[in-house]
Amino acid sequence: MLQAECLLLYALIFSLQPNNYLEIGTLYGGSALIVAAALENRRSNGRIFCIDPAPQIGPEHWQQLAARTTLIQGFSLAALSRARTMAGAPFDFALVDGDHSYHGCLRDAKALLPLVGNGAYLIFHDCFNTPVAWAIDGFVRKHASQLLDFGPLTREITIEHVPGEESVA
Ligand SMILES: C[S@@+](CC[C@H](N)C(=O)[O-])C[C@H]1O[C@@H](n2cnc3c(N)ncnc32)[C@H](O)[C@@H]1O
Repeated sequence: MLQAECLLLYALIFSLQPNNYLEIGTLYGGSALIVAAALENRRSNGRIFCIDPAPQIGPEHWQQLAARTTLIQGFSLAALSRARTMAGAPFDFALVDGDHSYHGCLRDAKALLPLVGNGAYLIFHDCFNTPVAWAIDGFVRKHASQLLDFGPLTREITIEHVPGEESVA
């Protein structure tokens, strides 16, 4: 994540204080560490649930996460219901940052919807990435009656422009 995105995530978690944070796509644990730091500084007991088929969280970082984090190694579709059972309550904040294909992102968004509570926040990383943008559009159109206040939170673009490919700006 870019610095501005890290600050944004930190500020959202610090101010909204989710009880059950879920993320799809964890890799080295960067976003989870930001969430853990914000919850820690808020003296919150909020829990973190991470789903990734191939997490690579170093031991020094896991040390900072372990007390409040459940890591589920697996693909989102199979792991989501396990995560929800382990959480024991609906998620109130979710970060989607796993499969960035159109179908993958749309599938994750749809699968998440029944697992979050009223007033939950769903955020998508790389929302300017064309397949992700289309997936969010499709998701919002199909489920408009269940969604409120959607839109981009940042204008930072983290993907590189490939010459000859459609611009995402
Ligand atoms: C961009 S990285 C996540 C970065 C992390 N959120 C951060 O900001 O530090 C994307 C991760 O998504 C994972 N991933 C890909 N497809 C997935 C899926 N279907 N379910 C869960 N995770 C997936 C990959 O293994 C990879 O580790």
